[in-house]
Amino acid sequence: MKKKWQLWIGGKWREAKSYESLYNPHTNEEIAQIGQAEHADAVEAIVDAHGAYKKFKEYPAHARAKILAKVAAIMEERSEECAKLIALESAKSIRNAREEISRTVQTYRFAAEAAKSNYGEQIPMDAAAGGEKRFGFTIRTSIGVVTAITPFNFPFNLVAHKVGPAIAAGNSIVLKPAEQTPLSGLLLAEIFKEAGLPNGVLNIIPGKGDVLSEALTTHPHVKKVTFTGSVEVGHIIQQQAGFRKLTLELGSNSPFIIDEGVDIDNIIERTVLGSFSYNGQICISIQRIYVHRSLYEKFLERFVARTKQLVIGSPFEEDTNITAVISKKSLDRIKNWIDEAVQEEAKIECGGTIEGNVLTPTVLTNVNRDSKVFRFEVFGPVVCIFPFDTLDDAINDANDSRYGLNSGIMTPSLERAFYAAERLETGGVIVNDIPTYRIDNMPYGGWKDSGVGREGVKYAMREMMEEKFISFKIGD
Ligand code: SIN
Repeated sequence: MKKKWQLWIGGKWREAKSYESLYNPHTNEEIAQIGQAEHADAVEAIVDAHGAYKKFKEYPAHARAKILAKVAAIMEERSEECAKLIALESAKSIRNAREEISRTVQTYRFAAEAAKSNYGEQIPMDAAAGGEKRFGFTIRTSIGVVTAITPFNFPFNLVAHKVGPAIAAGNSIVLKPAEQTPLSGLLLAEIFKEAGLPNGVLNIIPGKGDVLSEALTTHPHVKKVTFTGSVEVGHIIQQQAGFRKLTLELGSNSPFIIDEGVDIDNIIERTVLGSFSYNGQICISIQRIYVHRSLYEKFLERFVARTKQLVIGSPFEEDTNITAVISKKSLDRIKNWIDEAVQEEAKIECGGTIEGNVLTPTVLTNVNRDSKVFRFEVFGPVVCIFPFDTLDDAINDANDSRYGLNSGIMTPSLERAFYAAERLETGGVIVNDIPTYRIDNMPYGGWKDSGVGREGVKYAMREMMEEKFISFKIGD
């Protein structure tokens, strides 16, 4: 029998009513038994978080910052263990897992800094008649219980993007980690305890989204819901959460424009990385590449040649690039989408086959704009490549999407870069790099169906606080 992981509520491990096996996506071996929280457990966690918040909100910023800095230090010390845990439960390659941990350490450090930089704004009251002899300013205050529902693809860092800002803001939090990767979330119980976080401020309840989401989004103590995942679930959460503060980070089918005059040899490596890193299971993975017609044939040939060299293997091998897709269900869905696209006239330039739990990295051309691999987020190792004639064509095609998270444009022309940056309908435009580029202090969030609100530590923190305006009258 594998190790049983209980629920972390109120600073204690609590027995769950039922446990489910967690499997390694690469080998299908059982890794652990995970306690499955039920509605009543979620309510208990929220009530405990609410109780803990009443004390925690009095903690000064420097004390909150100290806890977060300590978390970063512990995680740095235990980084290899954390990276191996990611590789084990998510099949992320160990190199990518190590990168994720070093980003996570930094995310908690940003959160520690953000706790100490919580500024309001001064309002020039005398700019309006009647505002004389008054000082006006805003302050930002904590709000209470934040609930966080996190995805499998960055089980440490995307959790850090919710837990870090919540604690920096002086809130308490109930975390429901992804069903596929609960261990990374549960390990935080130990780490935060060692860092000195008071009991009940962080609660971790693995379980099923459909069982837990009602409590996590509608309980009266919940003041903010933050979710990263699919558009479909995001819509349900939005309806449930009502007037609560809400952040939804819902993915994309990110476009990348390669303009005329670009040196193709310089960008192949980076473009392959942006398309197939962690098997494309990244919200800002490149899904649609638009290449200026003058470069199209050369780009396609080199891109396909490099893609074919990617190493398929165990997540624990140092040179592995491509690993198992997170689940059989995902694997089958992606393969079906590829097959459908082929029936709709797409050509497979490479990949498109299944090897064990791996989908070989797939490059498609001549893709019909109504095919699912174009219209929806694939969240797998599939990229569609198109030629374009004018920059306007490329921008219009890139904008022909229900999503709008990050876009990228590579161009030697400053003028064309600005032209595109102004017109691309995405929350972030990455000029002269891939849309997959992200660092953890930049604002990150989507337009259209890609979501609501922004992450990137200080932005997330702002959305987890209330703003209060104070007017001070001096004299008569
Ligand atoms: C995501 O998949 O939304 C996160 C991407 C990243 O943090 O690099």
